[in-house]
Amino acid sequence: MADTTMRAVQFDGPGGPEVLRIRDVPIPAPTSGQVLVRVHAASVNPADVASRRTRLGRFPRGTGMDYAGEVAEVGPGATDLRPGQRVWGYLGTHGHETGAAADYLLARREQVAAAPASVDSVSAAALPTVGTTALEALRDKLRLRSGQRLLVVGASGGVGGTAVQLGRAMGASVTAVASARNADLCRELGADRVIDYASTGADASGREFDALLDCHGAALRRYRRLLLPGGRAATIAVKAFPYALWSRLLPGPGVRVVISRPRRSDMEALAGHVDRGELRPVVERVYPLVEVQEAHRAVETGHARGKRVLDLRR
Ligand SMILES: NC(=O)c1ccc[n+]([C@@H]2O[C@H](COP(=O)([O-])OP(=O)(O)OC[C@H]3O[C@@H](n4cnc5c(N)ncnc54)[C@H](OP(=O)(O)O)[C@@H]3O)[C@@H](O)[C@H]2O)c1
Repeated sequence: MADTTMRAVQFDGPGGPEVLRIRDVPIPAPTSGQVLVRVHAASVNPADVASRRTRLGRFPRGTGMDYAGEVAEVGPGATDLRPGQRVWGYLGTHGHETGAAADYLLARREQVAAAPASVDSVSAAALPTVGTTALEALRDKLRLRSGQRLLVVGASGGVGGTAVQLGRAMGASVTAVASARNADLCRELGADRVIDYASTGADASGREFDALLDCHGAALRRYRRLLLPGGRAATIAVKAFPYALWSRLLPGPGVRVVISRPRRSDMEALAGHVDRGELRPVVERVYPLVEVQEAHRAVETGHARGKRVLDLRR
């Protein structure tokens, strides 16, 4: 008889990584427009840490937004996907009773896409949120064009490392701001130059950039001064959103805020970049599901050399 229960990471109230529990829960059934995905791998994002800490929303709550796996079952109206198909996606930041850190998840069909053919599920799971965010920032907010000079602050992290690669793929020359220990990684990903945030930071450069993507939030005020007149700036860091709004009243380029949204078309665009060899998922460490607390601890350090991924098949 087919399984009727699955493992899912849940928590009953806000707290540190220790509130996360692996529970046996019923496998959900897809309703209209939904897809049941058998999860192979799920990555951990800073937003999962923020969701775990907040009192807002319902409990018990699941965790995890990014996944790669295969279609297990489709609900009515989701006939553009078929059981057995390899897929990946981003669930968005709204609370889910079972998130991506579970053997199965439910997703809206329009947010599920065919996974890239050239990488395995553990690598693919590293990209959905960071890829969507970097793509929306460079394409929609910065309108990056070939030949432009792009500055990426926080360039060794999930979003920053993806932005470095996508910036290169779009024909920009990329300067990365990162710690000295991650300078080599930024160069491997395609950065022409690396600035150490801990020593020189924004003092290492004059006004020379057409576009600035801030992925950290600290010192945005100073990095913004490195933009050429008419340059564009965007931040993904929630702590910098108040400054971004304020900057619109100041002389010089206003800083746009990026709030990523799950969309199949973005996942398809990212799969294309991966399969053309322009975008390589960077995985710092792979954890079995039983080590989900460890994976959260690593993400909440705020330091990264790629993504932490949960392997649901280990
Ligand atoms: N708005 C949105 O839609 C959206 C989407 C995704 C993420 N976010 C937010 O964006 C931020 C980054 O996300 P992520 O997934 O890329 O995080 P991440 O993978 O944890 O990376 C964080 C990066 O910040 C760098 N960093 C630490 N201190 C720094 C400093 N003083 N100056 C410059 N860089 C510094 C780290 O570099 P070292 O390890 O070298 O110190 C690391 O590369 C998080 O706050 C996240 O919540 C927002």
